[in-house]
Amino acid sequence: MLLNVIMGYGTESPSTEIIEQRFAMPEGFSVSPYAVGLGKIRFMHMTEQGDLLVSRPRSGDILLLERDVNGDGLPDGQRILLDGLIKPHGLDIADGWLYVAESTALGKIRFNQQTGSVEGDYQRIVEGLMDDGGHWTKTVGVGPDGWLYLTSGSTCNVCEEQDPQRATMMRVKPDGSELAVYANGLRNSVGFDWAPWDQSLYATDNGRDQLGDDFPPCELNKIEQNGFYGWPYINGYGDLDPDLGVGKDNLLASAISPVHGFRAHNAPLGIQFLRYTKAPGFEKSALVALHGSWNRSERDGYKVVSLHWQEDGSIIEKDFLTGFKGEVDVIGRPTDVTEAIDGTIYISDDYSGTIYRVAYGEQAKVLLSDEIAPPVVAEVDPEQALAIYSDEQRLVLQQQGEALYQQYGCGNCHGGERTTAMRPIKELKGLAQRYTLAEMTDFFLAPTPPMPVFPLNEQQREALSVYLYPR
Ligand code: HEC
Repeated sequence: MLLNVIMGYGTESPSTEIIEQRFAMPEGFSVSPYAVGLGKIRFMHMTEQGDLLVSRPRSGDILLLERDVNGDGLPDGQRILLDGLIKPHGLDIADGWLYVAESTALGKIRFNQQTGSVEGDYQRIVEGLMDDGGHWTKTVGVGPDGWLYLTSGSTCNVCEEQDPQRATMMRVKPDGSELAVYANGLRNSVGFDWAPWDQSLYATDNGRDQLGDDFPPCELNKIEQNGFYGWPYINGYGDLDPDLGVGKDNLLASAISPVHGFRAHNAPLGIQFLRYTKAPGFEKSALVALHGSWNRSERDGYKVVSLHWQEDGSIIEKDFLTGFKGEVDVIGRPTDVTEAIDGTIYISDDYSGTIYRVAYGEQAKVLLSDEIAPPVVAEVDPEQALAIYSDEQRLVLQQQGEALYQQYGCGNCHGGERTTAMRPIKELKGLAQRYTLAEMTDFFLAPTPPMPVFPLNEQQREALSVYLYPR
């Protein structure tokens, strides 16, 4: 597809062949790439007319993939709907407005569903949200009560926040008034949705790091107004935190435990209740994107799971789409899930910049997409990529990069001088296999959470890339 060539992303979408070989789904479902080469996409919203809106925090824009009128299982076109935004992440539409959760603001603009276009000016109805620290993304959703719900993750792995809005879900009127914290003790609830059968609000939450491979569970919480969900004092089902929970037994009675535990470090992000699917066994169900662990000794997650609500209120988790993680490699990281009113399901992957379309039964027969098979990218040799610099230039950039690495304490999380046990370690290696040099430079504009955003100018980002790239 031409787009890949223009955008030149280093991590390409897997080919149709690889998808067929690797991906597994429940009986009757099929998966195919819907759009590829989209860059660092995160969250989605599907309009009733079938236009798919996709946020891209790093490039500060929202893409619109045009509805598939010709029925070939692919969008009929794509365009940038809105740009110049501050790390846009969550999206929702209600009453003719498109709402966008930027990392420091909540904004809205008139959106015409029929034409799939925005009208008038973009207005920020909430400003001054903080996005420092690790969990800088924001997610917005319009509730059945007409309020806007907004989540903001913690600054850190485990700490007491200074800012009362961090590690919470907030709520605000669509005109921006009456902003207030709705629930707290939520470390990083990136995804939430309302159950269609009783309008209960459920949110995913990522458990903390550095307590071993298998603890604590990541969570699905049923969110209640003024509910306290434990972080940073209590993990999972009432376990006092070894760092900050000491002497906090008094909080145990008020902390609400999850209604479902995901495996530790699986990083559940987007959640979507299924409202339109015809597939049997999915009557009271939701899909959850497990982004996958970055700090477990063995990788875990990297799949989409389905949750099934039982008669007795318990929840069963099953694999829905697996294959992103192979024996040795990763070809994608599920980020968000959305469902169209015809029952087709869309899954975003922020690793390869792909959106997958999942169809059931008859719809699954729309076939697909040799056209869309992306080109295979030659492996990048870091030395060759760095040869654009003279030895002298490279040395200057390397030294500057190293100084920045120390100045910003990158080594606290990436090895080197590890200073505190509460900080996770992520080894940096094989970067040239996943990023072009230009992408590495761009990466620092909106790094994958929980990596914080640092105030680096372009030249500094370039210096860090040159310094780190050969690793
Ligand atoms: C608070 C901890 C923290 C700090 C400080 C931090 N990072 Fe990160 N960084 C992370 C985490 C966690 C990831 C992995 C996120 C993921 O992939 O899910 C990451 C990812 C990265 C990656 C991409 C790695 C890959 O394999 O894709 C690079 C490059 C990177 N960091 C460089 C830096 C640099 C340079 C600095 C300092 C300016 C820095 N980091 C500071 C936590 C941190």
